[in-house]
Amino acid sequence: MPQRGMTVTEHIILGMRAHPEATGAFAQLLSALVTAAKIISSEVNRAGLTDILGSAGVINVQGEEVQKMDEFAEKTIIRHLVRTGQVCAMVSEETADIIPIPDRYPKGKYILVFDPLDGSSNIDVNVSIGTIFSILKKEGPGNDVTIQDVLQPGRKQVAAGYFIYGSSTMMVYTTGEGAHGFTYMPEAGEFFLSHPDIRTPEEGKIYSVNEGYYNYWEDNMKELVDYIKTPEPGRRTPSDRYIGSLVADFHRNLFKGGLFMYPSNLRDPKMPTGKLRLMCECNPLAFVVEQAGGRATDGKRNILDIEPQEIHQRVPFFIGSPRNVEIVEEFLKD
Ligand code: AHG
Ligand code: MN
Ligand code: MN
Repeated sequence: MPQRGMTVTEHIILGMRAHPEATGAFAQLLSALVTAAKIISSEVNRAGLTDILGSAGVINVQGEEVQKMDEFAEKTIIRHLVRTGQVCAMVSEETADIIPIPDRYPKGKYILVFDPLDGSSNIDVNVSIGTIFSILKKEGPGNDVTIQDVLQPGRKQVAAGYFIYGSSTMMVYTTGEGAHGFTYMPEAGEFFLSHPDIRTPEEGKIYSVNEGYYNYWEDNMKELVDYIKTPEPGRRTPSDRYIGSLVADFHRNLFKGGLFMYPSNLRDPKMPTGKLRLMCECNPLAFVVEQAGGRATDGKRNILDIEPQEIHQRVPFFIGSPRNVEIVEEFLKD
């Protein structure tokens, strides 16, 4: 039984014991990801200092180029993951193509899909940001990867989760046996189980959407948000909460209950299907929320059932408490 206070490493090992066929490959991969996140967390905590030492992406006072934080996060994850020998490919939000594994490293059967730093436009103003990850397994023989090997629906994820760099750093992850939250203690260099078996409320009063785009929404989306805000006897007054950092908005709603929405936006012809990416943002959070008793949809389909057509595919995204998501489906079904 997982016990509050156990480290994430102990938790991973406990999960392995329940699966005698496990080789340790997955545990090694997850540990490498945790190590990378610790490094990113410490760098994010120091981000404010780049203001006085030179802001990211420009030359600092020592005349060196300061790396952009999302590039730093991506490189850190790649570096720690390739050396495990357990991945055969990686896909990052920041890189257009599949990231191959250099020949000098052995390849394993896992595929890591990730958003290295979500909400990164908020770094300069000290708002919570995060890293989102999704782990898939290559099907079929061999370790050479084609795009088809990567384009798997979210239902096939073997694990998924995120790290949030907030007032404390946390990791929330699932392997399909509940969603569990760990809080980082920098002095110990460890994540400790603080939120075992997370359950999201059946219904919540929070709705999170960028309402600045209201006039660019399709009519049924406008009607949905109008409905949410219409006072009705017996219904709680809703609260609008939108940080603009998906991980942070999602994390809050997971515990407090409610609904996060990023619909299609007719304003931007480049993003007719919304902004958020199916494989590296929506699928992992959809897996977490389902394990916590919540749901995720694009308005018509369960997010986890969508067969991706391309690695950076964007989808409308509605995620949260099951009752709130039901209302979305009512409004957006046709
Ligand atoms: P990223 O920083 O990884 O590019 O993601 C940004 C995303 C997401 O975190 C957030 O939910 C969304 O952008 C906010 O977009 P708007 O500013 O259009 O509301
Ligand atoms: Mn993102
Ligand atoms: Mn990002």
